[in-house]
Amino acid sequence: MALRVIRFDGDPILRKKSKKIDKIDDRLLELLDDMVETMVHANGVGLAAPQIGILKRALVIDIGEGPIKVLNPKIVKADGELMDVEGCLSVPNLSGEVPRPENIVVEYMDEKGDKRTLEANGLLARVFCHEIDHLDGILYTDKATEIYENEDQEEDEEN
Ligand code: CO
Repeated sequence: MALRVIRFDGDPILRKKSKKIDKIDDRLLELLDDMVETMVHANGVGLAAPQIGILKRALVIDIGEGPIKVLNPKIVKADGELMDVEGCLSVPNLSGEVPRPENIVVEYMDEKGDKRTLEANGLLARVFCHEIDHLDGILYTDKATEIYENEDQEEDEEN
């Protein structure tokens, strides 16, 4: 396992569309382990592969319930809307108010290649939406209604 370098806003790779994963091999499993390690090290609740310069549809999430490794995610149902504050490891020292669906159903492939369906709401739904946006070159700052400079960057959860 190894820490990877997080790319920051302004890096063109963050604006590219990531490619679907069709093969799970040792290299991909190592990538997922490295992503978890990098996310935990940075105190993040989520990390998408393009944030470390890899244009693959892979992301990891941990909102305090243990890491989830997610490949080729697709939101198949979304309802409700919640405004809340979010941040991003690729956009340091800022946070912003972003509307997100309150409830989602997401389909994805796990690291064994099995298809999974997950219902998520609140923070978990928000993090999924934020990370999936990264796979399409979208940053939360594109959707935020207000953006703030953080006075204390330790306080915010970042993805
Ligand atoms: Co982010």
